[in-house]
Amino acid sequence: MALVPSYIQQLANYKPGKPIAEAQRELGITDFIKLASNENPLGPSPKGLAAIQESLKNLHRYPDATGYELRTKLANRFNIKMENVVLGAGSEGIMSTIIRTFLLSDDELISAANSFIGFRVLANASGRRVHWVPMKNYRYDLEAMANKITDYTKIIYIANPDNPMGTTITRQEFDEFYKHVPERVLIILDEAYYEFAQNSPDYPDSMTYRYDNVITLRTFSKAYGLAGIRVGYGFAHESLIGNLLKVKVPFEPSLSAQAAGMAALDDVEFLANTLKINQEGMTFLKQEFDALGIEQVPSAANFITTVWDSEKTASKLTQDLLEKGVIVRQLTGFGWPNCIRISVGLESENQKCIASLKEIL
Ligand SMILES: Cc1ncc(COP(=O)(O)O)c(C=O)c1O
Repeated sequence: MALVPSYIQQLANYKPGKPIAEAQRELGITDFIKLASNENPLGPSPKGLAAIQESLKNLHRYPDATGYELRTKLANRFNIKMENVVLGAGSEGIMSTIIRTFLLSDDELISAANSFIGFRVLANASGRRVHWVPMKNYRYDLEAMANKITDYTKIIYIANPDNPMGTTITRQEFDEFYKHVPERVLIILDEAYYEFAQNSPDYPDSMTYRYDNVITLRTFSKAYGLAGIRVGYGFAHESLIGNLLKVKVPFEPSLSAQAAGMAALDDVEFLANTLKINQEGMTFLKQEFDALGIEQVPSAANFITTVWDSEKTASKLTQDLLEKGVIVRQLTGFGWPNCIRISVGLESENQKCIASLKEIL
């Protein structure tokens, strides 16, 4: 169709993890557990949920386009100024704003091949040249990425931890990499799984070095269980943020999303419980995978990616698990067809997943 640029026509539709309702329709099983989309198994933050309910009576009003309260609260929490904070409909909303704000027609992007699909879709839809640099041992190869920097490079995207691998770059690796990045290049550090990874040894919490060309992205979707309401935030130099605010869709995040974020930040108990359940679930799954001789990629997030001998094995296993009521994610769409990503669930869900795996294998 002549109306549509060829780089848009070539895009594939995003394929999310299978929704429970779809699996129920297909198989007639009612009792599913979903370990496919790295969601919070505890549900939404109760304080966030209460704030959403409370917000409903104001839905005839537009949201605060400046996001004043939530930006101020985040600024106070992280010891920065409100002018250093941007909000979005999820961190993906902010990625979209970044791509619309900074790119000139000849600009290029650099990221890792087969990393987070959300960024891949936005980058490819921008029509700009993107260098997708292969990972090394399931990790971002920062040295190879630095070698791709040219006069045209404008944005470098790093998911830390990565999704779908769960691997992290270390502080030393980032420091070395940063030496090769000119100031005119924007580095996006996507820390969607920050809360889970923050205590990993050598994890470079990007808040400890606030360079002028680094933007940190974080989200309420994972640790606060608010993926469905769409609220994320970014931290950067105030001139970057000021320009993002000019381009951002004015009323995102929604009124309820801003209210949810405000309340969730105070839900200290929920966050602690989330991290505890995740830590315990991780330990359990890692041990059980080891005992079953399953190859797994070391993860600092809320999921583990397992590696199988072929795409065929991974497909069959994903289908067999589905028939036992366990939804996991084969990573074909990400570019790792022989891998299956399993999100950490509640204790009973992790046990059911392992019991099903044992029966199948
Ligand atoms: C690396 C990474 N970044 C960003 C996101 C999206 O986060 P949000 O829901 O805030 O848009 C995800 C969600 O899976 C992710 O894995």
